[in-house]
Amino acid sequence: MIKSLFIANWKMHKTNPATTQFVRALKQIFLPADQVVVICPPYTALPIMQQELTGSTIVYGAQNMHWANEGAYTGEISPEMLQALGCSYVIIGHSERRRDYNETDETVQRKVAAALHHGLVPIVCVGESLDERNHDETMAVIQRQVSIACHGLLPTDVARLVFAYEPIWAIGSGQAATPEYAATVHTLIRQLTRPEVTIIYGGSVNADNIGQFMQQPSIQGALIGGASVEVESFQQLLAGSTINRI
Ligand code: PGA
Repeated sequence: MIKSLFIANWKMHKTNPATTQFVRALKQIFLPADQVVVICPPYTALPIMQQELTGSTIVYGAQNMHWANEGAYTGEISPEMLQALGCSYVIIGHSERRRDYNETDETVQRKVAAALHHGLVPIVCVGESLDERNHDETMAVIQRQVSIACHGLLPTDVARLVFAYEPIWAIGSGQAATPEYAATVHTLIRQLTRPEVTIIYGGSVNADNIGQFMQQPSIQGALIGGASVEVESFQQLLAGSTINRI
C-alpha cells in the first residue's frame, strides 16, 4: 500500500494539558490505513506523546535536535534523549531555525547523520526565499541544500530520508505554492536522491488546498504548521487529503 505522510509541526504552541486534550481527541478520529500521521510538538510535550500514543498508529517526533549525544550544550536536546522518549521522526533544518538560529547546510548535514545513527527518521526541510525565487535560483538552492544534507551518507541511508519542500515565502503566509510548481521541485529532489525517499510539501497547506497537492503523484504528503494546531482543522485537512485523489 502506498502511504501518504502528514506531519504536524506545532512550533511553539501548546502546554501539556492542551497537548493531552488534542491527542485524546485525535485518537477518536478514524485515520485511513494509508495515512501516516506524525505529531511534532514542543520538546516539553514529548512525554505526553509517549504516554498517550504508545500502541497507537499515530507517531510523533521532535522539531529539532543537536547532533551530539551529550555534552556542554546548554539548552539543547540530543538524539538519544528523543529516542528514549519514543520519537520516530525529527524535523531538521526548518527555515525558521536556519533564519533565526543560524542553522546552516553543514549543521543540517551533521544532524541528519546523527538522527539516522539513532534510528530517527530525519524530515529535512529545504526551500528557497522569495528573493531567491525572484532571481530564478530555486533549483540551485534546492540542489545545494539536498546535496549537502545527503553528503557522506550511504545510499541505504539516503533511502530512509523524508524531504519537506517548504518555500520560505509560503510558510505561514497564506500563499501556498501552486501544486505544479511544488511538483517540479519534488521531481528535482527525487533526481538528486533515491526512488525510496519520501518527499512532502509544506507552506500554507490547509483543508481547502491539500486535495490539489495530493493530486500530484510526486507529492507524497505535507508538513503542516498553522492548520495542525487545532484538532478540528487538522482533522479536516486529513479528510480533505483523500477527497480529490485520482
Ligand atoms: P504553515 O507552516 O503550514 O503554517 O505555513 C508550515 C511549516 O512551517 O512547516
